[in-house]
Amino acid sequence: MVRCAALNSCEIKVLGCGANVLVRDEGFSGAVVRLDGPAFREVRVEDRYVRVGAGVDLMPLSRAMCRQGLSGLECMAGIPASVGGAVRMNAGGRHGEFGSVVRSLDVLAPDGRLESWDARRAGFGYRSSSLNGHIVVRAGLELTSEDPAVAEARYVEFLAEKTRSQPLADKSAGCIFKNPNGVSAGALIDRAGLKGLRIGGAEVSSRHANFIIADRSTGTDDVLRLIDLVRERVRAEHNVELETEIDIW
Ligand code: EPU
Repeated sequence: MVRCAALNSCEIKVLGCGANVLVRDEGFSGAVVRLDGPAFREVRVEDRYVRVGAGVDLMPLSRAMCRQGLSGLECMAGIPASVGGAVRMNAGGRHGEFGSVVRSLDVLAPDGRLESWDARRAGFGYRSSSLNGHIVVRAGLELTSEDPAVAEARYVEFLAEKTRSQPLADKSAGCIFKNPNGVSAGALIDRAGLKGLRIGGAEVSSRHANFIIADRSTGTDDVLRLIDLVRERVRAEHNVELETEIDIW
């Protein structure tokens, strides 16, 4: 399928669990793939090493690993992501990043060849990797042994912290902007007085200003216009240029 798309100059996008993605109202004209088959949902644990398919949901995986006495994924509590998406974005937060436990990757090159990579080749950075058109199909993780009760307590604590400070129950695409030079984008937007600012059905969350919440009827256009407005106001107020963290298709 990947080879066929390449031959026909058809762009491929992989939809993980739908987090961190905003699809324009006019849609996307290439192929959208979901890695949903059993092979992409496989989890194999050997000692502290775990091989996981790219379609595996990270939060349930993280909790299951804690219960087996394997630590390293607790920082993923409250972050909706598939393994493939978490690799591509180097998902994470204050407590850690996914890339730090990834040791190897199986990826499909744009020409359809399957390649095995050492994780260092993935170039993990702040919410970024250098996968450039390569599709993750499997990841090899190295976790650390830990008392299951301690690991799970940490997971629960991180999740509670996120639930308190982020609008996890509302519909959103996650944090909209990257933190510029380590400064909280949410705090900058908040200090510019933008919580509650609305365009159509899109609203800057009053719980955490780096989230834009929306209802089912909200068009992407409203969200994009609100993103531009927030960026403009933050530039005027703080002289800081915000860069989006979400993927806009
Ligand atoms: N703050 C405000 N107002 C707000 C939001 C935050 O004043 O509306 C203040 C908080 O009170 C706190 C500081 O800003 O003093 C930092 O806030 P927080 O702990 O929520 O962290 P953050 O820097 O805003 C980052 C990540 C989040 C991650 C949290 C916690 C980015 C862009 N954001 O947010 O990640 O969940 O730390 O680990 O890196 C994401 O990547 O999608 C994401 C949401």
